[in-house]
Amino acid sequence: MHLDGPGQSDARRDRVSAVLERFELADVALGPIHPCPDGLQDYRHVVKVGFGRSDRGRIRVGAWARGNRDIVPIPGCLAAPEVLRRTMMSLAHHTIQLDVEPFEPETERGVLRSAVLRASRTTGEVMLTLVAARRTRKLAELAEEVARGVNQVVGAWLHINAGPGNAIFQRDGDGVMGVSALAGKDWIEETLNGTAYRIGPGDFFQTNPSVAEVLYARVVERLELAQGEPVLDLYCGVGGVALLAAKRTGFAIGVEEIEGAVNRARESARINRAPAEFICDGVLTALPDLQERLGGVGTKVVVDPARRGLEEGVLERIVALQPARIAYVSCNPDALARDLAHARSLGWRVQGEIELFDMFPNTAHVELLAILVPPDDHPPPKRRGPQRKLVR
Ligand SMILES: C[S@@+](CC[C@H](N)C(=O)[O-])C[C@H]1O[C@@H](n2cnc3c(N)ncnc32)[C@H](O)[C@@H]1O
Repeated sequence: MHLDGPGQSDARRDRVSAVLERFELADVALGPIHPCPDGLQDYRHVVKVGFGRSDRGRIRVGAWARGNRDIVPIPGCLAAPEVLRRTMMSLAHHTIQLDVEPFEPETERGVLRSAVLRASRTTGEVMLTLVAARRTRKLAELAEEVARGVNQVVGAWLHINAGPGNAIFQRDGDGVMGVSALAGKDWIEETLNGTAYRIGPGDFFQTNPSVAEVLYARVVERLELAQGEPVLDLYCGVGGVALLAAKRTGFAIGVEEIEGAVNRARESARINRAPAEFICDGVLTALPDLQERLGGVGTKVVVDPARRGLEEGVLERIVALQPARIAYVSCNPDALARDLAHARSLGWRVQGEIELFDMFPNTAHVELLAILVPPDDHPPPKRRGPQRKLVR
């Protein structure tokens, strides 16, 4: 944060270059950073806050300190837009007023663990998800007070996480995250590139919608999508690129393991009239089933995995589809470089520049886009079109 915008961009490019070099990809070109259209502040549309106590036993609401679970109050956080700052302040104020006890992992006493606040850049609406070790009456009161104080809060939800560890949400074996209503509706809507995305409690959605808009547009452009080409969006969240691409080509399939996100993606397909189908499954297990429908027909594939990158075996299964090209979106340069090096070992080439996106200004993080193209001896796509099986 001691660097200005251009200084930060240089530092990120240097970091990505060093990682590429480490994976013997030094010959791959890096493009300039796409800047954040909103500037270096107020860009973070999702904020996760923790609850704890100060040394003197006072309730504290804020960010987790680096390296431990201490809570650092962040009332003036400049990364979040004003509406989220107000919501955080209101949440902190009413938590203290109502004396809602923070959960203490050592003794397992107390209630409130964390909260996730998401604001729509498009509508200004806010969704609040409280995470507690158990349900109490005070939690509903807390949600009502926050919604009363900040009228942009249109929905408040409760997720019970009684488990050990620091994960915010707990999901069952089917990826289902239990939530119950405290107040209002169960989604807010964000619009990127003219496509509306429904986002519910616990869903992943890009941190910085203005940069996500640029990123998605670049993915679609660099995939060189044409009418009639099938698109497969792996790790698609609430619809990501699949919805946008489906409008362009007439058919896309998204794969996502979290059931709630898949429901939202299907709902968004309906409201956007986008011919996209969504499969709720792990990518590794979904791919063999997709072989018959998408194998050899020149599918354009998008992957946007979590920080750990592609799980073992996923790249081989994608390559087995003989796709026409692959767009790889990543927030982790190390995982991206590892997977690109692996793709090279399978004969694939990194085409053109890796693009950088300033998704997280004032942090060391950066979002990346790389395009992979097949080996020269790749068989031409069969004429057969994708086999549709629209599930709505
Ligand atoms: C980085 S997010 C990207 C989401 C989406 N592409 C977007 O732009 O909003 C990764 C997504 O992959 C999902 N995910 C993680 N591991 C998965 C797996 N093995 N199979 C299917 N989905 C997975 C997560 O739930 C999350 O929604």
